[in-house]
Amino acid sequence: MERLRVAVFASGNGSNFQALVDAIEAGQLHATMELLVCDRPSALVAERAAQAGVDTFLFSPKQYPNREAYEAEILKQLEAKKIDLVVLAGYMRIITDTLVKPFYGRLINIHPSLLPAFPGMNAIQQALDYGTKVTGVTVHFVDGGMDTGPIIAQRVALIEEGAGIEEVTQSVQRIERELYPQVVQWFCEERIQLIDRIVHINS
Ligand code: GRF
Repeated sequence: MERLRVAVFASGNGSNFQALVDAIEAGQLHATMELLVCDRPSALVAERAAQAGVDTFLFSPKQYPNREAYEAEILKQLEAKKIDLVVLAGYMRIITDTLVKPFYGRLINIHPSLLPAFPGMNAIQQALDYGTKVTGVTVHFVDGGMDTGPIIAQRVALIEEGAGIEEVTQSVQRIERELYPQVVQWFCEERIQLIDRIVHINS
């Protein structure tokens, strides 16, 4: 079986990007990291990509007339590199049909809550403010809505009495760094099947 050709979109720290690169280097993923797409040239994730020798498409959205224009440019890059799977990892921009349509079913996101609870920004803080006793991580397909696409995998993080944003963020991020590579490996093994909006993980 061919190695899965992966692109990551990220805007910030890039701990999920790093987890995927590390898993590939450790031989745990039958994949190659072909491209980082990053909308913030100063982001730490861009440095991580340079260190790992991963090609990067760095862009400033302000240099384009509108979202469609830079998404069309990104699409060209994805096609040129024959990307099989697009992995959003802290990419802080809405993605429109320009990218969602050609990549539907091959475009995934990770979100730090148990969706459909707490979509959008500051999901961990939202859970703390609501007073839930558990939160977690969701990996889902991207469908053009805000964190609304079909759910592929979820893991629970307990919110212990007295825990603050830092502790919960740490435990959520620990889970993310395990779960995302695992889900990508399921794609490598062609185990993921999307029927209507239900995702099946075949054994
Ligand atoms: C993660 O918490 C992810 O759930 C959210 O953005 C954050 C990105 O973190 N979508 P990092 O840049 O991968 O460290």
